[in-house]
Amino acid sequence: MYRITRKVALAPTLNQFEIEAPLVSRKAAPGQFIILRIHDQGERIPLTIADFDKGKGTITCVFQEVGKTTSVVCVGGGVGVAPVHPIARALKQAGNEVVGIIGARTKELLFWEDKMRAACSELRVTTDDGSYVRKGFVTDVLREVIEEKKDLGLCVAIGPLPMMRAVSNLTREYGLKTIVSLNSIMVDGTGMCGCCRVTVDGKTRFACVDGPDLDRINHRCSCSGGGGK
Ligand code: NAD
Ligand code: FES
Repeated sequence: MYRITRKVALAPTLNQFEIEAPLVSRKAAPGQFIILRIHDQGERIPLTIADFDKGKGTITCVFQEVGKTTSVVCVGGGVGVAPVHPIARALKQAGNEVVGIIGARTKELLFWEDKMRAACSELRVTTDDGSYVRKGFVTDVLREVIEEKKDLGLCVAIGPLPMMRAVSNLTREYGLKTIVSLNSIMVDGTGMCGCCRVTVDGKTRFACVDGPDLDRINHRCSCSGGGGK
């Protein structure tokens, strides 16, 4: 992490940042650029070094604001609300617009509505039996959100396997990048037992070695008792 030591508004959407980066400033020269990422998983943004101060150990960059990084939908089904919560919160903290969707079989099984509401820019709630807010699966709400918000860049879904499979099938229709979490199918967690083998984009992957957060599951292998999913 690099500390921003000074921020100057040059124009309504134009900002100048001075960033503490002694190693970079020591080697900096006119015409060079840096690759900036706003968090560990963030996209790589090439930026010209507008100025540098080798004595202070800082570099200066100029940014034009063009809106929020991206819109994201985070889906938590049943117990999956707990692991999806920190992901939604981190995505929002990184400047994304986060639409949260949480669902449970019935009202009594729904939890952390307040925490998810705080973590997301907007939250939609559903219950399978209609005992709270509305009736339907999280995928019913997800379809509505995708239809409504044409600019979604990512879907993160955690919950029971049938839910994550249904989410994957739905978002595939719309070409929406999707990450699911396959913690629940792991056994030895070392890549040896084969229980967590899945197919992702036609390639065999192991949840424990390559995941557990994976880019949309196509199906689960039938070996090791997995059953065709
Ligand atoms: P559940 O069966 O009560 O389902 C929760 C919600 O998921 C439902 O309310 C519904 O909205 C949605 N859903 C379920 N089946 C669906 C389908 N076929 N199509 C569309 N939506 C569907 O869930 P639960 O009992 O809380 O789930 C427990 C399971 O979740 C366990 O198997 C556990 O291992 C798994 N889990 C996985 C993770 C993970 O990291 N992958 C984390 C927590 C729990
Ligand atoms: Fe056994 Fe992944 S949990 S191979």
